[in-house]
Amino acid sequence: MIKFISHSNLDASILAVQLSSSKAFLPEIAEDPMAGWLKDPISMSELDDVKSAANEIRNSSEYLVCIGIGGSYLGARAVYEALKPQLEGTKLLFAGNSISPIALTEILSEIEGKDFSINVISKSGTTLEPALAFKVLKDKLIEKYGKEEASRRIYATTDKSKGTLKEEADKEGYKAFVVPDNIGGRYSVLTPVGLLPLATAGVDVDALLAGMKDEASSPSDDIFTYAVVRHMMRARDMKVENLTCFEPRMQYFNEWWKQLFGESEGKNKSGLFPASTIYSTDLHSLGQFLQEGSPELFETFLTFNENPGTGSVTISVDAEDPLGYLNGKDLASINKTAETATIVAHSAARPVFEINLEKLDAKNLGAAIYFFELSCAISAKLQGVNPFNQPGVEAYKREMYHLLEK
Ligand code: PA5
Repeated sequence: MIKFISHSNLDASILAVQLSSSKAFLPEIAEDPMAGWLKDPISMSELDDVKSAANEIRNSSEYLVCIGIGGSYLGARAVYEALKPQLEGTKLLFAGNSISPIALTEILSEIEGKDFSINVISKSGTTLEPALAFKVLKDKLIEKYGKEEASRRIYATTDKSKGTLKEEADKEGYKAFVVPDNIGGRYSVLTPVGLLPLATAGVDVDALLAGMKDEASSPSDDIFTYAVVRHMMRARDMKVENLTCFEPRMQYFNEWWKQLFGESEGKNKSGLFPASTIYSTDLHSLGQFLQEGSPELFETFLTFNENPGTGSVTISVDAEDPLGYLNGKDLASINKTAETATIVAHSAARPVFEINLEKLDAKNLGAAIYFFELSCAISAKLQGVNPFNQPGVEAYKREMYHLLEK
């Protein structure tokens, strides 16, 4: 179970009242047409299909290039990067999440001479960034394997019946997976959107889903408490929440969290700006600000009791060495001490909270995904905005298409 811990004083009576009223939003969320992630994001038969496609890709490819952006990308990357040191499957590369020619060229040179397949992921099937990368990588695939074999190596995850990508998949005979109608991009990691690449990479997707289901079977008070505390922070005129972690391989989990909360809550000229840091790295660039800068920012530390797969590095030094006081200690315990010290130091300056996972593994990440998805939906409801739409993201596209003379 994921735990929420407060390192700051909170008004217990306000917390209790809001906690009980926040629970009243659960039935309303459950009835929302976009709440497919709440109980069963994937059926057993779809999961079997995902696993068999993943097996097929593992047998044929050293690399799977995952093409997608935003909600069609960040969830898979978050879990992949977090678990990478423990994985032995096909390596994942991520394309189509920018329009940078350098980023795409790097991928092309990485796959040069290697066997690869493509998973193109786009619910709308029309997003420019993935469409461009898909065009280039598909040409590469056809050049290497010929048209027929290339079509067998393309896996399309898209709408069940409409859109350019769905039409192309039907015409060319790509194996297709469905982004469910009732699940938006940022809530879709536990559907084929995230599960196909993750299963291909060797992530235990059953454990990921089991972690999610454990949390979902009876959502804990901690989920609602986190949502309520964020609401209390808004009422205190906080403007920014900084999610932080002492494990660099959680960087993309932070990015996933930023999209989840940013797209769900940044509406009606309101919402907390979701920021993120990785410590201790960023303590040496932003530590000054966090300790003494503007007060409108609070922090949430994502912590783990166990952090496996990192290898163990023990410090061995003479007593006279300047590092002598650390002789015999391992880096993991020194990192943990730095985390405890930072929580103490920062909580003297601003509100600090902690979300604690037992272990950095697939099961706990599945639980954390659900924890944040539900707390985000509740928090948005407390704020008075719709957690499931994103009307503002179209504005830049309109301008860009106008300038590109579409
Ligand atoms: O959460 C969202 O809705 C967005 O981030 C989309 O996932 C993103 O824009 C990609 O859209 P699509 O999957 O239609 O290509």
